[in-house]
This record gives sequence, structure tokens and C-alpha cells, in this order.
Amino acid sequence: MSEKGCFKMTHLDFLKKFKFSKPQEPTPGVIGCFFCSLCLIFSLFLLDYRIVHGLNWQSFGWFKSNVSSREGQSLLLMGFKSNVSSREQSLLVTGLNSNVSSPVQSLLFTGVKANASFLEPKKLGFLEGDCDIFQGNWVWDESYPLYQPQDCMFLDVGFQCTKNGRHDQFYTKWRWQPKDCNLPRFDAKVMLEKLRGKRLVFVGDSVGRNQWESLLCMLSSAVPDKTSIYEVNGSPITKHSGSLVFKFRDFNCTVEYYRAPFLVLQSRPPNGAPENVKLTLKLDQMDWSSVHWKGADLLIFNTGHWWNYQKTIRGGCYFQEGAEIKTEMTVEKALQSSIKTLMDWISREVNLSKTHLVFRAYAPVHFRGGDWRTGGSCHRETKPDSSPIPVSSYVEYKTVVNGLSEHLRMGSIEFLNVTSMTSQRKDGHPSLYYLEPGVGPAPVHRQDCSHWCLPGVPDSWNELLYAVFLKREISHRRV
Ligand SMILES: *[C@@H]1O[C@H](CO)[C@@H](O)[C@H](O)[C@H]1NC(C)=O
Ligand SMILES: *[C@@H]1O[C@H](CO)[C@@H](O)[C@H](O)[C@H]1NC(C)=O
Ligand SMILES: *[C@@H]1O[C@H](CO)[C@@H](O)[C@H](O)[C@H]1NC(C)=O
Ligand SMILES: *[C@@H]1O[C@H](CO)[C@@H](O)[C@H](O)[C@H]1NC(C)=O
Ligand SMILES: *[C@@H]1O[C@H](CO)[C@@H](O)[C@H](O)[C@H]1NC(C)=O
Ligand SMILES: *[C@@H]1O[C@H](CO)[C@@H](O)[C@H](O)[C@H]1NC(C)=O
Ligand SMILES: *[C@@H]1O[C@H](CO)[C@@H](O)[C@H](O)[C@H]1NC(C)=O
Repeated sequence: MSEKGCFKMTHLDFLKKFKFSKPQEPTPGVIGCFFCSLCLIFSLFLLDYRIVHGLNWQSFGWFKSNVSSREGQSLLLMGFKSNVSSREQSLLVTGLNSNVSSPVQSLLFTGVKANASFLEPKKLGFLEGDCDIFQGNWVWDESYPLYQPQDCMFLDVGFQCTKNGRHDQFYTKWRWQPKDCNLPRFDAKVMLEKLRGKRLVFVGDSVGRNQWESLLCMLSSAVPDKTSIYEVNGSPITKHSGSLVFKFRDFNCTVEYYRAPFLVLQSRPPNGAPENVKLTLKLDQMDWSSVHWKGADLLIFNTGHWWNYQKTIRGGCYFQEGAEIKTEMTVEKALQSSIKTLMDWISREVNLSKTHLVFRAYAPVHFRGGDWRTGGSCHRETKPDSSPIPVSSYVEYKTVVNGLSEHLRMGSIEFLNVTSMTSQRKDGHPSLYYLEPGVGPAPVHRQDCSHWCLPGVPDSWNELLYAVFLKREISHRRV
């Protein structure tokens, strides 16, 4: 019998031992194989049955788990489930005993039908307990994405990567799994029901719009009659309109987007300004559209991608406070000042018992070897990066967190701390595939590594949004 066959039977028996598969009839060769490998398994792994039985075998996917045995040894298990044939699901398990340095002691099992997402100790739901849902990892989940792009009519060309020619769809299959608890599964009906008669408003830059479109798709998946969802002014989804308000007729609720990449007001310079000043950012005044935001029931901000030299001073857009143009002010200082203006506006204008305020943290870009103007690239990235860059290395993130700190302490604003999880997803950007079929793909030196393909990463932000939204609904009902 080949080694492969041996290992195959070994795993069947292994699984039989653990009662999660129907084994085949054993033959003498198999029994020999079984004993030798049983020895192997127990000598290498010293696996504790009770630990395995205490685990939650739930869904398929990539898994990696560091389990400690009763003997105090630690065991690292990794695996991948793939749907190679419709006849049989295939499971690959690799075990490494960390107390043994040689990689020889890794085992490979294939060809087994098992109903397992491996070795996730049973976790409390986020709604029952309390945990940091922003710490965790991306796990492969065959049940994703949450919607099919062709079923969603609210997608900008720029986010429809598959339609625009991206071949792999791996980026749609990753689910965010918090380390210490489970997220509630997104239920569009529940969310729409809770939004009945209410307004949900996104304010920010085009990455905010990315998230808004994702939520429209996620919510509309529960609405059979798509004509019951419409833009109140009949505007089409196009990249550059200032605001869009979609109504879900049967729920009398709106899901709105206001473009305000700086949150504060950008307008003409004062009279007598130097000629090189084409525009100014009035750091002490909110964007003109703020009058429309303030009555929202759920209000989600983001900013960051425009706070850089290229998108401000280089283009002749200077910072202004009062009547004075601050030609010497750094971008970071200006962002700080605008966050303060936002906080003052919230204190002054927003009724915090009505409006649930959320600030979605900076979403890192992934231009390798340049930036968006100089040929930076994220093309051909197909896997998440397991070693994220620490959030503290993002200036935009830090500046915003410092500016929000008082409100975060008071709990008056909820922080969707997605920077770290998002930094692991260099595979999720449109790269060359942001132009419509026939026009694209874009040239290699003009890649989009700041927006996100949909379905994709913003769906996960919205699952987190859903979780904190539900939690607040529940706690408010209790009061
Ligand atoms: C597994 O856990 C043990 C102790 O809990 C730790 O010493 C070891 O470094 C961990 N190994 C990995 C690969 O995470
Ligand atoms: C590794 O194995 C040796 C001998 O089997 C044992 O004495 C030692 O405690 C083990 N170390 C760990 C960290 O499990
Ligand atoms: C494999 O995938 C196909 C289509 O993607 C699906 O119809 C089938 O049920 C899957 N089989 C298993 C065993 O998951
Ligand atoms: C997989 O497990 C779930 C519950 O954990 C169970 O309902 C389902 O029937 C199982 N499926 C198979 C094919 O064993
Ligand atoms: C719809 O919701 C708005 C608030 O957004 C409310 O003023 C209005 O009365 C509602 N209409 C119906 C028919 O419930
Ligand atoms: C704030 O909102 C609550 C809940 O909607 C409402 O009862 C209250 O009257 C509002 N307060 C002000 C000052 O508008
Ligand atoms: C956000 O998450 C990162 C990484 O998990 C953590 O270091 C940071 O403290 C968090 N920030 C806030 C404000 O919660």
C-alpha cells in the first residue's frame, strides 16, 4: 500500500476515533497502518481527546489553531477545506508539534469527508458578552460572499472587479473572525426592520462610498422587489455626485451618502488671497452638507484619504482658519483641527440620544513600490497578509484617534477600528480592474490600491457595523 493510501486510511481511522466520519470497512493492511500511525499520532501529538471534543466543529475553511494538550505540549493544527469534487469534500490537515523541531513530523491527510471548522473553541456571541471584535483574523468561508455582484444594482463600475476582468474570486471568501467571540451573522431583514422609519447616513470620502454601496447590496439582498429601492431624486449611481439618498420603500428608511472627503468646508479663497491659492479648506466650518447629516439615526463618518500634500497644497488648496490662510500649516495639523471642528459640531448640533454616531477608522492603502501616481501596485495579490502593519504607523489613524479620544472615552462615538484588519487585505483592491469591460483593464502603472472590490472587505466592516448597531439597539431596549 502506498504511503499516501496509508495516510488516507489513517486519517479515516483517526476520524473514526473522534466520531466525525463514517469509516470504510477495515482491511488487514489498513489495520496495520492504523496501529502504526496511531502510535505516530499519539507519540507526536499527545492529543487530548477531551480538548478535541470540547471544540466546535462548525464550518469549513482555513484554520490554524494552537491547542495545548493536557501534557502541556502545544500543538499547531492547520488545514484547508476545498470543494475539489462534488462527490467528496476534501480536508487537509497538517499537524505540527511545536515541541519537536523537525518539520518531518507534519502529517497530511486528504480525501475525507468531515463536517468541521477546526478547533475553534466555542466562543460567546458578541451580543451576549463583550469583546474586542477588531482583534481576530480572516478565515476562509465557503458561504461567502454575502451577495452576488450581479444581484446588486448599486455598484459603481470601479468596484465591480469580477465584471471588469479580475479572474480570482478568493478575495470574496474571507470572513472576519474576532479572536474572543463570534459576530452575529448579518441578517438584512433584521437590520431593515430596525431601520424602519429611520435614516442611515454615511459621510466621507470615496472609501466611505465604497462601504455605503456595500451596505446597499447587503441590505437589498433581503428585498425581492428591487424596484422598491430607489434614489429619491432619480439620480443614477455615478462616481462624482455629491450626495445620494436611497429609499427602501417597504421599510420607509433611507440609506444615504454625502461626499465630504475632508468633513470640513472646502470653498473659494477669501478676497485678496495670493494667486497660488485656488481653494481653501475652512478648518473651522463643517461641510455645507452637514445640515443634512445631523438628523440621522445612524451616522457613520470616515476621512483620511484626502489628507495628504498631493490632494491639498500641491493642487493649490490651502488651509484657512477664520479669515486667515495658514500657508505654513502641515496636513497633519489641519486634520487635527478639522476633527476638533467635527467634535464641536457634534456637541452643538447632534442629539446623542437619537443619533448613533460611528467613526470608521482609516482603511490602509496597499501601493507597493510607489503610490497612486507613481506606479505603485497591488496587482496579483490573492491572499491576505497575516502579518499586519501596526496601526500606529498610520498617521491618519493616529491623528483621528487623538482627536476623538475624549468622545471615545465618554462613549458618545463608536469607533469602528478596522485599520489593523484592513491592513491585512492587500488582496482586496481593484488593482487593474476598475474600468468597465472593453475599456479596462487599466495600465499596470495606474492601479487602484485604495478602493475595494465588492463583494469584499467593506462587507466585513458592515458586519461589524451591524454588530455594534444591534448591540446598541438591545442595550437601549433594556433601559
Ligand atoms: C503555541 O502556544 C504555546 C503556549 O501557549 C506558545 O509557547 C507557542 O509559541 C505557540 N505556538 C505558535 C506557533 O503560536
Ligand atoms: C518537550 O518534550 C520533553 C520530553 O518529551 C519534555 O520534557 C518537555 O517538558 C517538553 N517541553 C514542552 C515545552 O512541552
Ligand atoms: C461544490 O461546489 C458546487 C458549486 O460551487 C456546489 O454545487 C456543490 O454543492 C459543492 N459541493 C460540496 C460537496 O460542497
Ligand atoms: C454539520 O454539522 C451541523 C451542525 O454542527 C449539522 O447540522 C449538519 O447536519 C452537519 N452536516 C453533515 C453533512 O454532517
Ligand atoms: C417615514 O419615516 C419618516 C422619518 O424618516 C417619518 O417622518 C414618516 O412619517 C414615515 N412615514 C410613514 C408612512 O411611516
Ligand atoms: C433627542 O432625541 C430624543 C429621542 O429621539 C428625543 O426624545 C428628544 O426630545 C430629543 N432632544 C432634543 C433636544 O431634540
Ligand atoms: C485599534 O486596534 C488596534 C489593533 O488591534 C489597537 O492597537 C488599538 O489600540 C485600537 N484602537 C482603539 C482606539 O481602540
